[in-house]
Amino acid sequence: MRILGIETSCDETSAAVVDETGDAAKPWAVRSNVIASQVPIHREWGGVVPELASRQHLRDICGVVERALGEAETRWPDLGAIAVTQGPGLVGSLLVGVSFAKAAAAASRLPLVAVHHLAGHIESLVLHNGELPLPSVVLVVSGGHTSLYLVERPGSYQLLSRTRDDAAGEAYDQVAKLLGLGYPGGPVIDRLANSGNDRAIALPTTRLTHADRNAPELKGDLDFSFSGLKTAVARHVRAREGGLTEQDIADIAASFQRVVVSALIDRLFVAARRYQAASVGISGGVSANSRLRAELMDRAARREVPAFLPSLPLSTDNAAMIAAAGLRKFRAGVTASMDLNADAALTLV
Ligand code: KG4
Ligand code: ZN
Repeated sequence: MRILGIETSCDETSAAVVDETGDAAKPWAVRSNVIASQVPIHREWGGVVPELASRQHLRDICGVVERALGEAETRWPDLGAIAVTQGPGLVGSLLVGVSFAKAAAAASRLPLVAVHHLAGHIESLVLHNGELPLPSVVLVVSGGHTSLYLVERPGSYQLLSRTRDDAAGEAYDQVAKLLGLGYPGGPVIDRLANSGNDRAIALPTTRLTHADRNAPELKGDLDFSFSGLKTAVARHVRAREGGLTEQDIADIAASFQRVVVSALIDRLFVAARRYQAASVGISGGVSANSRLRAELMDRAARREVPAFLPSLPLSTDNAAMIAAAGLRKFRAGVTASMDLNADAALTLV
């Protein structure tokens, strides 16, 4: 069985073809994964402009799907299903993918599978590494989300905690903006941090101990918060009246990154212990971060919990992970009907 995946939730238009392998330990193989990035368009504005994003998705979607099929040496009749990101994300962007997938499914008489974007990020771990030892605690950390999930069985995702305010990737992007480093901020700060002193500036870490009134079902002590950290960086920058030297910027980047990475890793391992995890994983755009990857492997080795990461191309938004999550759902017997709609605030259950 072969599936076409489509992802247009934010500023990447992506299509991918993924095969089922028949191997229970490593169930899926990527045949193609084409990503048209809109970064150069949004960079001018310092962040994603939703209306520009949906218009660009419209321009790119047909060509991206054709290339994904071509690179995979696949024709429409070779496919067994089409998977598409239903949400969460920018509604105008999601609509382009959902409408395209519905039209393609109707025209080629293929079943349609609706995928949650974060299920895609979680399954990117399996796509790259094979099935994880379960139960697994997975941190999904991107520009829009910072959430911990417990995966007890393949395809079941239980939310353990999430950020109360900014996502970690959003904090990276905002701090980069403050430092005049452009968009997206994660990769630049990651690079500059290498030449900075990560203890140069004292920045606060937030530890939440109380339950969130908006989510009383979560205990709350595994929640994240990054807005105070962002404000502390802003205050530090404002206090430096003479402006910042290159070394100052590198020091801020390194200090900021140390605090973010330790907050992420600490909560992940507290959760792993609490839920007696047989493995841990980190996925989503921020999982491309070099310090986060290194500290994860280091902590995992010391605690003897196997740790998993996606490859770099599978870390940031891509359709191969959507195809993989779609195959998982299709095999569980779940398909979508032709009245499927995009859902900007879709929850993962
Ligand atoms: O998963 P993703 O591609 O899109 C969302 O679903 O949000 O994640 C994008 C986010 C951006 O905030 C970007 O700055 C961040 O991932 N990012 C990084 C790195 N590469 C991308 N953050 C830290 N270090 C990186 N190397
Ligand atoms: Zn994402």
